[in-house]
Amino acid sequence: MSHAGGKRRPIVGGNWKCNPATASSLDELCRNFDGVAPYLDKCDVYVCPSNLHVALVKDNFTPGVHVAPQNCNFKGCGAYTGEMSVDQIQDLGLGWVLIGHSERRGEFGLPTPAESNQLMATKLQYILDQGLNCVFCIGEPLSIRQKGIQAVLAECADQLADIVPILRALQDKSRVVIAYEPVWAIGTGKTATAEQAQEVHAFIRNLLADLFDADTAKAVRIQYGGSVKPDNARELMSQPDVDGALVGGASLDVRVFSELIKNSI
Ligand code: 13P
Repeated sequence: MSHAGGKRRPIVGGNWKCNPATASSLDELCRNFDGVAPYLDKCDVYVCPSNLHVALVKDNFTPGVHVAPQNCNFKGCGAYTGEMSVDQIQDLGLGWVLIGHSERRGEFGLPTPAESNQLMATKLQYILDQGLNCVFCIGEPLSIRQKGIQAVLAECADQLADIVPILRALQDKSRVVIAYEPVWAIGTGKTATAEQAQEVHAFIRNLLADLFDADTAKAVRIQYGGSVKPDNARELMSQPDVDGALVGGASLDVRVFSELIKNSI
């Protein structure tokens, strides 16, 4: 888990969100990840294709790149129209799933029901029970950031509160990666400064130390997401509590993504 310098093994994810529009673009997008092969001994890499495309692309990445669906059900299979179960994800041979992205927590700008902290906890429990690993996203909207750093930290603590008992019972805490993504920095080109990212990451790590113990705080990886690009990756990743990046737009570009990973390790 640890690598030279005492930090945790970096983890970089590419979230394609609801892209691309055509299945015929998938081959090229998958090939884009070939460039990450030289870095896989030093860095974990995952990609989150749209749910419709997961099964089409899952075997098409350079070996070692994990495919992590962008969402999952809260239970097994059954009468859950429109859902995608952890059991089905597992059956496809996938080991990771991402949940709690802000775009599912009510940030579409439409009156779609927001996924709650309680729902996230239900999903996480089921994911872990089924033996999968989880990238668990949190992050504050602009309205909270504007209230100041104490409000930001309180919001992050609140988004984690429901999963504390689950993490407590989990033996291998590295099975959960926390992705801190300030909503105001997503897709806006407005990145949190390295200091802003570090401030929140350090808070989360201290919170883990208080809730659990120093070993847990040391083991859990915390990714930063929000307008990460090759030219800001190095500074963000050089922060002591930033263990990787969760990348949206730039993950759809070949050279940009491998360059970003090169700059992240
Ligand atoms: P951008 O990198 O496009 O800002 O998206 C970040 C994100 O939401 C990744 O999940």
